[in-house]
Amino acid sequence: MLLKYATDKIQNFKVESLVLFVPAFDRIRNNPLKELDAASSGGVKTLLKSEEFTGKEGEVASIFNPRGYQAKRVILIGLGENKKLTPDSFRRAAGTVSRFKGLTSSKTAAFCLGSFVDEKFFQAALEGYLLGSFELLDFKSGEAKRSKNKLSRITFAVEDLGRVKDVRAAVEKGRIIAEGQLLVRRLAFTPSNYLTPRMLAREARQLARKHKFNCRVLDEKAIAKEKMGGLLGVAKGSAEPPRFIVLKYRDGRTGQKPIVLAGKGVTFDTGGISLKAPLNMYEMKGDMAGAAAVLAAFVTAARLKLPLNLVGLIPATENMPSGTATKPGDILTTRKGLTVETINTDAEGRLILADALDYANKLNPQAVIDIATLTGASLYILGYAGAPILGNNNRLLQRVKEASEATAEKVWELPIWDDHREMMKSPIADLINSAGRPAGTIAASAFLENFVANWPWVHIDIAYVDLEPKGKPYTPKGPTGFGLRLLIELLSRWKKLS
Ligand code: BES
Ligand code: MN
Ligand code: ZN
Repeated sequence: MLLKYATDKIQNFKVESLVLFVPAFDRIRNNPLKELDAASSGGVKTLLKSEEFTGKEGEVASIFNPRGYQAKRVILIGLGENKKLTPDSFRRAAGTVSRFKGLTSSKTAAFCLGSFVDEKFFQAALEGYLLGSFELLDFKSGEAKRSKNKLSRITFAVEDLGRVKDVRAAVEKGRIIAEGQLLVRRLAFTPSNYLTPRMLAREARQLARKHKFNCRVLDEKAIAKEKMGGLLGVAKGSAEPPRFIVLKYRDGRTGQKPIVLAGKGVTFDTGGISLKAPLNMYEMKGDMAGAAAVLAAFVTAARLKLPLNLVGLIPATENMPSGTATKPGDILTTRKGLTVETINTDAEGRLILADALDYANKLNPQAVIDIATLTGASLYILGYAGAPILGNNNRLLQRVKEASEATAEKVWELPIWDDHREMMKSPIADLINSAGRPAGTIAASAFLENFVANWPWVHIDIAYVDLEPKGKPYTPKGPTGFGLRLLIELLSRWKKLS
């Protein structure tokens, strides 16, 4: 996508489609609607009277060949109530218009967001466009593989030359962030036969080379040497060997302690011997969405040149049933030495994250954030609307909430109480990995907490927010890429915690 910036009158934009972002209106008060109405013999008034277009969120309308406009078509996209406009209003509007036939059949377009709007709105508009027009074509063949979206150039209308620099910077940032989120989506929807733990490691190495961060991969021997009994216990049932991927990005002061991001990388979760039901099992190809968010966060942080030291930890494995698989009741010894009775082999994510969290101690982290499709129970807490977060440090939790507000990737904090800690104790080992259904999301976190040391820690459970069931303005049905915007916002605002 070619991105341009222009300060001309919008009448002079030489594009196929001129997109006007319009807040809800009940009267045509001022430009650009006033001019457009005059140029179309009252076309805007007619739309308003017929209630075809009143600027409500989700509304789209076209006006063709207005007099004096170089554009063949003006597309109006509704933003909703003026007083309530946020960056996400623009993200949603751009997402809606991104799949509008009039726009996708145009090669060139201009986006006019209105006058004196915040740079963040420009950033969000490009994010919304790129996220909304995402198509899953990689595994189609022939004609079906080609996108029907012709749009290849967007010109942003900027009110004066003095502002172009800031708008350009914001839009370019939006591009990098949206591309990061699209990478998460692409990895998450790639089926497990195209993305085994080894292939995920190769992908990580290639991305690291391209974007100039470091990547080291522990193979099954190195993992055994690390005594990662959780990861090995999960991987045991699979013909595919596990990998433990370590990413390093350094652009902070030397000596600055790293922020550690850990992501669950189960490339397919059958449940193991505690086998899942067949109906939606195919969705478990996306059980590495946390890992994808971490990997894409490194790509994005490197492209944005964030002044931080980061370490990424990705335990990657399949969870398969077989003659060599861990069986319910088997006891595993984790890297930390804590023993775990595997009541349910389908509670595998916490076993591999336990080893990753303990590995983080080697890095002397200033904070650790883990992100994982960990518990189906999160569906019964926030549905598809947001991700439960849990942790041990109010300041870090607060930071995550602020990043959530800013990015519209919603989170809500749940507690971890002693009652929950009690639930995870085993009569014969140190811990059990599953206490059944009660408080499933909290129980998983109470388990993980045993592997956390005295550093600030937040766990983000993205089970279900990683998949959009129906389709939303900038989130087509399928993998959402949730977490990338949240992590990058958190890191962009980073200050020492203390
Ligand atoms: N990967 C699943 C969680 C999941 C389920 C994510 C559905 C997205 C959609 C996880 O490994 C799992 O199976 N968790 C179990 C834990 C239970 C056995 C304690 C669950 O949530 O049912
Ligand atoms: Mn599972
Ligand atoms: Zn899983």
